[in-house]
Amino acid sequence: MEKKPHSVRREPPPREVPALAPALLLAAVLFLNGLLYLYLSNGHGSSERAGPDPSLCPLGSFRLGAGKNCSPWLSCEAISKEVRKLKRVGEGAVKKVFLSEWKENKVVLSQLTSLELQDDFLHGLKMLRALQSKHVVRLLGYCEQQFTILTEYHPLGSLRGLNETLSMPRYKGFNTWHRRLALAIDYVSIIRFLHGSPLGTLVMCDSNDLAKVLSQYLLSSDFHVLVNDLDALPLVNRSAGVLVKCGRRELRGEFVAPEQRWPHGEEVPFDDDLMPAYDEKTDIWKIPDVANFLLGHVEGSDIVRLHLFDIHAACKKKDPAERPSAQEVLDTYRKVLTLLIREAAVPGTREML
Ligand SMILES: Nc1ncnc2c1ncn2[C@@H]1O[C@H](COP(=O)(O)OP(=O)(O)OP(=O)(O)O)[C@@H](O)[C@H]1O
Ligand SMILES: *[C@@H]1O[C@H](CO)[C@@H](O)[C@H](O)[C@H]1NC(C)=O
Ligand SMILES: *[C@@H]1O[C@H](CO)[C@@H](O)[C@H](O)[C@H]1NC(C)=O
Repeated sequence: MEKKPHSVRREPPPREVPALAPALLLAAVLFLNGLLYLYLSNGHGSSERAGPDPSLCPLGSFRLGAGKNCSPWLSCEAISKEVRKLKRVGEGAVKKVFLSEWKENKVVLSQLTSLELQDDFLHGLKMLRALQSKHVVRLLGYCEQQFTILTEYHPLGSLRGLNETLSMPRYKGFNTWHRRLALAIDYVSIIRFLHGSPLGTLVMCDSNDLAKVLSQYLLSSDFHVLVNDLDALPLVNRSAGVLVKCGRRELRGEFVAPEQRWPHGEEVPFDDDLMPAYDEKTDIWKIPDVANFLLGHVEGSDIVRLHLFDIHAACKKKDPAERPSAQEVLDTYRKVLTLLIREAAVPGTREML
């Protein structure tokens, strides 16, 4: 957690302020270092921390709230005995989602909607178990026979409701360019995590339009992004030449990547057998659209957009191989955040640029 501020501190002060009196310059630099330190140690750096999260329990167990012990995932028996459904808070194609209560904790019980979709449901559960980390919603238990999954409840809901959340009086103070850029950094961190996951390179296929993408991610109360729905995460294996297709139906529209669209023209009817497979660069194509939504229209977000212009143009390269990796996008986003915080900390710098 403390590594990031140190490496940031070694960077030279902004070049744009040579005319300032040395004492003033020193004061400004000290001030911005302090601000940056506070910023990064105040939870913002946490999304960029390397290594396992100390608040995580060993695989197969979980902790709710600080200072508590790790409990094993709830079994079928414990779920049916100890979990009480309160009300429905969401429904997708695969799952009905209920706010529920377990030992005075608010939790979420997800149930399969239709037995035809059990393969998706079980794939999602398998992924949720294997990928537990700070990027993924916390698993509290499951019952394969009953097709139920128990996870942590996040009252702010999915990223789809970000506009509404940020317009609530309680969260108005979070509606700033740096909070919003931090969300975009979280989002790209998750894509980076999925592309380099312990299971290999996973593609987020539940992503054929912006609303769909946003509904797969939750906003935690401390304003971080978590991936929640892992039902459609096929594996790319480059060395084995294994590519993926996101479903068997034809995809259309500008939101999906060009290689996901039918390449043989209107005259040839769509045939999945003739549809070429593709790789994880489809996720990179979609980053600028998701980031644009996350950045919103607040004071400073256009300056952020300006700084992200080149990397976003690269994400939209027609040839997937020319698009950057999620890691490269993430590095650029972090550089922009650091740069803009530094500018914001030295009054007047922005006018000189
Ligand atoms: N832990 C949670 N806390 C709060 N809200 C949640 C939680 N889990 C799910 N939801 C809400 O329920 C919605 C549907 O959940 P989920 O994406 O898991 O269902 P799904 O059937 O797999 O969806 P899809 O149709 O995308 O496959 C989410 O978009 C979110 O709004
Ligand atoms: C990718 O394929 C190679 C060769 O078949 C195999 O050895 C490797 O385990 C695969 N990797 C993953 C992550 O599945
Ligand atoms: C969210 O708000 C932005 C403006 O801040 C607007 O452009 C966008 O369309 C809104 N999106 C949704 C899904 O309501």
